[in-house]
Amino acid sequence: MFCSLFSVLLLLYTVVSECQSAKTQNLKRKFPDDFRFGTATAAYQVEGGWNEGGKTESIWDHLTHTKPCAVKDCSNGDIAADSYHLYKRDVEMMRELGLDYYRFSLSWPRILPTGFPDKINEAGVQYYNNLIDEMLKYNIEPVVTIYHWDLPQKLQKMGGWTNPYIIDWYTDYARVVFELFGEKVKNWITINEPEQICYFGYGSNMLAPLLNITGVADYLCAKNLLLAHARAYHIYNEEYRPKQAGTIFISLSAQYYDYEFKEFKDAAEDANDFTWAIYSHPIFSKNGDFPSSVKKRVKAKSIQQGFPRSRLPELTPKEIEYIRGSSDYFGLNHYFTFYVYRNESVKGLYPSPSTSDDLGVATYQKKDWKGDLNKIVPLGFYKLLTKIRNDYDNPPVIITENGFATKGGLDDDDRVTFFRSYLNAMLDAIDDGSDIRSYTAWSMMDNFEWLQGFSERYGLYELDIKSPNRTRTPRKSAFVYKQILRTRELDWQYEPDTDVMTIDKGH
Ligand SMILES: *[C@@H]1O[C@H](CO)[C@@H](O)[C@H](O)[C@H]1NC(C)=O
Ligand SMILES: *[C@@H]1O[C@H](CO)[C@@H](O)[C@H](O)[C@H]1NC(C)=O
Ligand SMILES: *[C@@H]1O[C@H](CO)[C@@H](O)[C@H](O)[C@H]1NC(C)=O
Repeated sequence: MFCSLFSVLLLLYTVVSECQSAKTQNLKRKFPDDFRFGTATAAYQVEGGWNEGGKTESIWDHLTHTKPCAVKDCSNGDIAADSYHLYKRDVEMMRELGLDYYRFSLSWPRILPTGFPDKINEAGVQYYNNLIDEMLKYNIEPVVTIYHWDLPQKLQKMGGWTNPYIIDWYTDYARVVFELFGEKVKNWITINEPEQICYFGYGSNMLAPLLNITGVADYLCAKNLLLAHARAYHIYNEEYRPKQAGTIFISLSAQYYDYEFKEFKDAAEDANDFTWAIYSHPIFSKNGDFPSSVKKRVKAKSIQQGFPRSRLPELTPKEIEYIRGSSDYFGLNHYFTFYVYRNESVKGLYPSPSTSDDLGVATYQKKDWKGDLNKIVPLGFYKLLTKIRNDYDNPPVIITENGFATKGGLDDDDRVTFFRSYLNAMLDAIDDGSDIRSYTAWSMMDNFEWLQGFSERYGLYELDIKSPNRTRTPRKSAFVYKQILRTRELDWQYEPDTDVMTIDKGH
C-alpha cells in the first residue's frame, strides 16, 4: 500500500495508520504565530436555570417538557451544566485550558421574555454581563453566538423560521444585544448551523421543533434565515461597526460528502450542495444565490409532482445582492465524513416530496474507519477545507466547532487522536494556502446533546450530571489541548500527567 510505503521511506514521519489519515504527520508541527484557540458551548446545552430570573420557554423547553422521551435518555436542559449559577467555574476552566477565546450563545427568551424588544430582562442581561466581565478579567475574549437554536416558543407558534416576519423578530433581537454587549463583545456569530435549524428542525424530526414538513418548510426556513442573517450583518456593519469595531459572521455546519467510486462524483457534489452549500453559496460565492444544482433538482421534482412552482423559494436579484458577502469569516462547524452513491437502488428510497428525494443519494461510512459514535476521518476535513478554499476564493475561515463524542470516561484516547488528526489535517490545508485563523474545540465540557441527551459526551471536561454541584473533571484530552495551546505546537508524542490541572501564569 502507498501509505505504509510512505511511512517506511520517511523516517521523520510517524506511521500513518490508515489511508484516511491526512497528508503529513510530522512528530511536531507549529501553528502559525497569530493562530488562536478556543472552546465552545451553547446556552440551552449548558445554562440550565430554564425558568429562573424571568426567562420564558424556548422551543427546547417546550419539546423536552411536552415530549420528554423524544430525547434518547428522556433528559432535558432544565439544569444541564448549571452554568447559569456556575459561570465562575466555567471561566476557571477556560483559564486552566489557557483559551484565547470562549464561544458561547445568548438565550433569546432569557434576554427578551416576550420574544420582542418591548421588555428587556434585567436578570438575564446581568447574567451575561457577569460571564463576559469574568472572562475579560482574565483576558479571555468572548465570541458570542446570537442564535443557537433556542427560539422563544411564542415565536414558534407563529411559524418560527418559516414566517418571513422572523427577519424582523430576529434582527430586533440582534440590535438589542449589539446595544447591550457591543462595547465588550467584538466577535459576533449571527446564527449557528442553518442546516440543523432548517432541515433537522423543520424538514425532519431530528431537532426541535420536530416539524417534519420535508421539502417545503426547510426551504422556506433557508430563505428567511439567510435574509435574517444578512440583515443583522448589514445593521452591525452600518450602525455598530463604526463605533464598536468588531466582526460578525455566520457558523455553518458542513459535513463532507465524498465518493468512493468516480461515477458518484456528481452525487457527492449534490450532497454537499443540498446540505451546506445551500447556505454558503448565497453568502460566499462570486455570484450568490442558491447553488444551481439545488435550484434545478427541486424545481424539476416539484413540477413533476404537480406543484405550480418550485418548493424552493426564489431569491430576487435584490435579495441575492443583499446576502452576497454578508459575513466577515466562513465560520465552520465540522464533525463527519460520508461516502455517497446514487443508482437504481436509491430510487423510491425516500418519501415524495422530500428533501432527501430531491437530493436522491444514499450515504455510508466505511467499517474500517476508526471510531465508535463518531468516525475519525481527518482526510475528509482536509478535503472540505480545500473545497471551501477553491469554491469561494479562499475566504478567511474560523473553525467554530470540531469535536468527537464518546459515551464518557476520563481516558479519552480516541478524542485525543481525533483532535490531533483534525488539527494536523487543518495544518495541511494551511500549508496549501487556506486562510484559517482559529480553531474551536467542541466542547469545553459535556452538555445536553439535544436529542441524544447526555448519552453522547463531547467535553474536554467530564460533567457529573448526578452531582448537585455539576462537578467538572478534566479528561486526558483537556490536558493535551492545554499543552497544544501553551506550546502552539502539535506534538504527537506528548503524554500528559493527568493528576492535577493548574492555571498557568497570564491566565
Ligand atoms: C416525517 O415525514 C416523512 C415524509 O413526509 C414521513 O414519511 C414520516 O413518517 C414522518 N415521520 C414522523 C415521525 O412523523
Ligand atoms: C449502488 O451503489 C452501491 C454503492 O456502490 C452498491 O452497494 C449497490 O449495490 C448499487 N446498487 C445498484 C442497484 O446498482
Ligand atoms: C458542592 O459545593 C459546595 C459549595 O461550593 C461545597 O460546600 C460542597 O462540598 C460541594 N459538594 C460536593 C459533593 O462536591
